[in-house]
Amino acid sequence: MEKITGEVLKVLKERRSIRRYKKEEVPENIVKDIIDCARFAPTARNIQPWKFMVITDSNLKSKIARICDYGKFIAEAPVCVAIFCEDTKYYIEDGSAATTYILLAAKAYGLGSCWVAGDKKPYADEIRQLLNIPDGYKLISLVSIGYPEEPVPTPPKKSLNDVLLFLPVRK
Ligand SMILES: Cc1cc2nc3c(=O)[nH]c(=O)nc-3n(C[C@H](O)[C@H](O)[C@H](O)COP(=O)(O)O)c2cc1C
Repeated sequence: MEKITGEVLKVLKERRSIRRYKKEEVPENIVKDIIDCARFAPTARNIQPWKFMVITDSNLKSKIARICDYGKFIAEAPVCVAIFCEDTKYYIEDGSAATTYILLAAKAYGLGSCWVAGDKKPYADEIRQLLNIPDGYKLISLVSIGYPEEPVPTPPKKSLNDVLLFLPVRK
């Protein structure tokens, strides 16, 4: 059990946004299992408003990359997952939780990934239409996935002391 705990915590703490990938394909069973993990993300009232579209077609990935201002690397990623949610009360929270599960499951498989913004971006509807997703669904995020080209340094993170509050205050 201790070993599993250590490995899970390593995945949580060592996941980084990876934007450069090897050309190597990601096996389909791994991609499917990553999406299968996302199914288990927490979701308000258990509505599970999500749909996950997996895109491996180079043409389509290039079109998406052109549309996203900060997602140009999607063109070179072997896999892109577009996460949509039906426009429910907690669609952003639900979709964000599912996106996080995808990032972590990818890391557990030794894959790199990066969250590219969807919701609130002016291009969200254009991507939805490009992917033939019906009106009434919101683009939450696009996640690029692939084997990392090289390890990336951890960007500056606030320290535990900066973010942790205890009541009553411990001395
Ligand atoms: C809501 C959200 C939107 C993001 N959008 C982008 C994006 O459009 N392009 C990008 O390269 N990274 C994007 N990121 C990734 C962040 O830049 C990254 O998580 C942050 O710099 C911390 O780095 P780390 O993930 O390696 O810890 C986004 C992350 C979140 C949570």
